[in-house]
This record gives sequence, C-alpha cells and structure tokens, in this order.
Amino acid sequence: MKRRRTKIVATLGPASSSPESIEQLLLAGLDVARLNFSHGTADEHRARVRMLRDIAARLGHHTAIMGDLQGPKIRIARFRDTQVMLQRGQRFTLSNTHPNDAGDEHIVGIDYPSLVQDCRPGDELLLDDGRVVLEVDSVDEHAVHTTVIVGGPLSNNKGINRRGGGISAPSLTEKDHEDIKLAAELELDYVAVSFPRYGRDIETARELVRQAGSPAWIIAKIERAEAVVDDAALDELIQASDGVMVARGDLGVEVGDARLVGIQKRVIQHARHQNKLVITATQMMESMIASPLPTRAEVSDVANAVLDYTDAVMLSGETASGKYPVEAVAAMARIAQGAEQEPTTTQSHHRVGSTFTRCDETIALSSMYAANHFHGVKAIVSLTESGNTPLIMSRIRSGIPIFCFTPHPTTQRRVAMFRGVYPVPFDPTAYSPTEVSDAAIALLKAKGVVQAGDWVILTKGDSYHDSTGGTNTMKIIRVD
Ligand code: G6P
Ligand code: MG
Repeated sequence: MKRRRTKIVATLGPASSSPESIEQLLLAGLDVARLNFSHGTADEHRARVRMLRDIAARLGHHTAIMGDLQGPKIRIARFRDTQVMLQRGQRFTLSNTHPNDAGDEHIVGIDYPSLVQDCRPGDELLLDDGRVVLEVDSVDEHAVHTTVIVGGPLSNNKGINRRGGGISAPSLTEKDHEDIKLAAELELDYVAVSFPRYGRDIETARELVRQAGSPAWIIAKIERAEAVVDDAALDELIQASDGVMVARGDLGVEVGDARLVGIQKRVIQHARHQNKLVITATQMMESMIASPLPTRAEVSDVANAVLDYTDAVMLSGETASGKYPVEAVAAMARIAQGAEQEPTTTQSHHRVGSTFTRCDETIALSSMYAANHFHGVKAIVSLTESGNTPLIMSRIRSGIPIFCFTPHPTTQRRVAMFRGVYPVPFDPTAYSPTEVSDAAIALLKAKGVVQAGDWVILTKGDSYHDSTGGTNTMKIIRVD
C-alpha cells in the first residue's frame, strides 16, 4: 500500500504523557502533537514537549508541535453544590453580580460582564456545547433572565455560546499572551488562535508570536458563526493565516449541527484554493475515548474529510484523556490510508481556469500537473527554505509523494502537517551548483524511494542560499 498522505494531529494530555505512550503514538502515526493550553500547567506542557522531542529524535521522526490557545471562551461561574439540574420551562438567571461560588438552580454568576450588552430578548444561549439551551426573556444592567428550553445537568465553569454568534469578547486574552510566550520558549511549530472573527485578530496574534521570537505558523480556528457568515468573511480569515482548523465543537454549537458538514467542505475547499493548510477537528473518534473500536459513523467522518482532501485530521479527548489513545491514532491512520486508495484522491481539477500571481506558485502547480500526467514519475523533490513551494504543490490532489528537501529543522517539522509531503534533511549549499540536482536524486535513491529508470520531478531556484520565494525551475530527471 502507498504511504499515508493525510496527516494526524493528536492532543497530548494525561493519557499521553509518559515516554512509553508518546513513543507508541509516534509509531502509530502521530505527525503533529497538539498542546491544549485550556488545560494543564506550563510545566506539564514543557515536560511533554521535552519528552516528545527526545523520542522523535531517537526514532528519526520530524514531528511538529502545535500550541492551541484557549481564547475568550465565555463561561458560567460555579455552583454551591458543583452541579444543578435544570428543568425545561423554568426560569434561570445569568448574573454579573452574583457571587462566583454560590450558583443554584435559579441563578449563577458569569465571568464576562459584557454578556448583558450582547444579548437581546429572543436570543438562544447554548451552554455546555449545546447540552443545555436557554432563551433570553429580558436583560437588565447586571443580568440576563432566561427560560430553559432544553434542560439537563449543568456544572461548574461550562461554556456559553450564542446561537448565530455575536458575543463580542476580544480574541486574545491575558492568558493567551502568556501562552504565546510559552510557545516561543518551547519552539512550537504552530500556534492556533481560538475564536478569531477578523483577519486583524490573526495579524495581532502573528505580531505577538513574532515579538516573542517565534517563527511558528498561525492557524485560525474557524469556530464562530461570524467567520462563516459569507465567503468574504471566511476568505479574510484564511488569507490572514497560514492555515485553518475546522473547529467543529464550538462551530457546530453556533451554526447548528445541520449546517456544519456543508461548511466544513466549503472551508476545506477555500483554504486549499488560497494555498493554505486545513485541519479537520473535534469528535472524529469520540467513542474511542471509551471503546477500542470506532463506530461506522466515525469511520465515515474521517474518510469523508480525507476524500475532501483535508491536510490533517485531529484527535482531542481521544488521545488526551481517553482509554485507547494509541488505538485511536492507529485507526485514524488505517482509515485515512484506505480512503486514499480512491482514485478521486489522486485526480485534480484544482484551479483549472484560474490565473496565478507568482512565479514559484506557477512552477509548483505546473510540476504537479506534469507529475500527475507523465506516467513513470515516482517522486517530486522540492528544494525549499520555508516549505512554501511544497505547500503550494500539496494543494493539488495527487498520489505521488512530495519530498521537502531542506537544511532547516523548523521547516522539516513544519511540513509534518502538509498532506502528501515528507521532509528530507538536505543542504544544497554543500554541493557545487551543477551537482545539487544529482545529489538530491542520489539521496532519494539511497533511501529506496526511487530506482534506476524512474522519473523524478525536481524544483529549485537559481540560488541555493536563503532564497525563499526563488523557485523558478522544474526539471524532469531520469534516475540512473
Ligand atoms: C531552496 C533552493 C532555492 C529555492 C528555495 C525556495 O533554497 O535551493 O533554489 O529558491 O529553496 O524556497 P521556498 O521557501 O520559497 O520554498
Ligand atoms: Mg473551540
């Protein structure tokens, strides 16, 4: 079977923090480890990063790490008895002034004063990812008064979303600022921004990340109704970021589960068309938190995201706190690889009829057209500084592996997220300009990827020194 192209992001947590479990996750197929900054202490994250980097180095894996910022999730405060039971039809109040530890079945505090400005009578508030639904009856200076539409248990610190979006918390909190510094200290490869609404939210995050001294790529989590209200809003967020995550937990609550799948497909398509990465996330293997086998519906969910050509599929609770973290990664890897056998995943109509704006983009996309149409091409080699050339290549459906030849460890790890792209450490400046292509092909042959008689497509620029954006050449080379 061909090597797997779709990448696996898996969240590290209490169930995946020992050296043994991290090693098993890597061997099962983890490509990108996610640190969820909503949980755990800085020291716990430090320890996981150290362990993962050590083990990956020993195994010869180029594993990326993504830090996921908590963002301005709005939450209720706490109950006197930890949990209450809300009955459909009863009244319930969310109050700015009620003491934080003294909620009961009539009233609870909130940690977000502007909620009263953001709510209108008739609005629906969804608590605990929509398990409890409240309709707003009236709003006064300090409180939102509601009637329970969907009842059930409600416990401490559960999240609040508004149906249709529109809760106006700023997108980076004090804690996010601290966590960005931690991401820089730990040399993380990606930083994911929660609840961004506008391109400027991503630009602000990028400035903070750069100020902290980190080259991490920025992922915009698509999880607010405003982000998908029309194509212009979505495209603005995609444009400002290096990649997006379809964060289906909060997004599903805000737009309703019925719209979610269509929106997921649209986000994947738009991201790829703008040369950006896309991760499909949340509840992909949810039942595997407690069971060693996925349901048919979960198999179908992962396979469909793969068929839609997502770069990566993501695991959250399954690997962070579930009973079967390694089985979940292994099942995802198996399902992705199986779905990739479908011919639709190797045939492309990508941007046929659109024009290109850059020279390197034109070479990258043309190379893929050549590789997909010229029988005998077994591999694509892209000499790259930043990973940008293989990124553009991998936007196109193909069954041919794209090898990212780069001297930079940051780039070697970064491309762990890109569909169908595999890093090869290689320094073109170690060779004379006339030897570089042959040296690259010889390395691929030594790795057993190609043999005499195969064709390889190779891209590069005129200079081999720090020349990002310089790709202007495609060569078709016969291996001898
Ligand atoms: C390497 C090659 C250059 C090429 C560059 C592209 O440095 O030796 O010839 O111009 O990669 O890097 P990029 O970051 O744009 O993919
Ligand atoms: Mg979320």
